[in-house]
Amino acid sequence: MKNTKILSLVNQKGGVAKTTSTINLAAALSKLGKKVLVIDLDPQGNCTIGSGIDLNELKYGTYNLLLENTEAKDCIIKGPVYDIIGTDIKLAGAELIIISKIARESLLKHKLEKLGGYDFILIDCPPSLSLLTVNALTASTSAYVPVSASVFAVGGISQLTETIDSIKILNRDLEIKGVFLTRFDKREKFNFIVEDALIEMFGEKVLKNKIRVCADINKSQVQGIDIFSHNPKARSAEDYMELAKEVIVLEK
Ligand SMILES: Nc1ncnc2c1ncn2[C@@H]1O[C@H](COP(=O)(O)OP(=O)(O)OP(=O)(O)O)[C@@H](O)[C@H]1O
Ligand SMILES: [Mg+2]
Repeated sequence: MKNTKILSLVNQKGGVAKTTSTINLAAALSKLGKKVLVIDLDPQGNCTIGSGIDLNELKYGTYNLLLENTEAKDCIIKGPVYDIIGTDIKLAGAELIIISKIARESLLKHKLEKLGGYDFILIDCPPSLSLLTVNALTASTSAYVPVSASVFAVGGISQLTETIDSIKILNRDLEIKGVFLTRFDKREKFNFIVEDALIEMFGEKVLKNKIRVCADINKSQVQGIDIFSHNPKARSAEDYMELAKEVIVLEK
């Protein structure tokens, strides 16, 4: 656990590619020789489904992990590329129960403390700044923020940075390590406006590698596989691989 880097992919804005980036960054890190666990903390379960898991066969997921005596190791589904703790829609009801728990912000952190053997744990967050997201951030060693280049939603990010600042009471070293653009289309002038706004806000924290818009992403997700397994020559495969290398350097 000591050397495990726990990264939350977080942005309360929906559809910015949190799940896509969790899956494909996990796959890229794995290809680079890292042992990776993915945790799906979004009740929509897109990351679980996108990792090829049949929700009917999910025995223990993040609901059990957060609210029952179930240990993290018993929730892990081993995969050919990365391991995963999945979820189904039951997690949607978890929030109401978590509210009344003692140390409610640290439930995930305590469960992960007992887990060893992983270089990276990537947490796919829901599109909200809910207690689930707070649990992800409290457990994390750093946060990464995907931002869709095609939507101007930079304003909402200040709310996210405020949330991260407030979590420092529980997790002193937490910081946004990287902000990166997704669905980037160089033919669209607007995408550069979003990029400039991000650089103005985050300076060097804006990662060098951006993820270009790529039709293969959708095709891979429909099959429940990562982009490398679907088409290693896809431009987004190249982009996620470069992003993973950048993340490894940042996390050294
Ligand atoms: N590089 C890309 N090129 C084309 N489409 C993409 C790309 N990245 C993501 N998408 C598509 O954008 C949509 C939203 O992506 P994703 O589900 O990863 O976002 P999200 O932030 O996890 O959404 P939510 O907030 O609902 O959890 C999906 O349909 C996905 O296939
Ligand atoms: Mg998602």
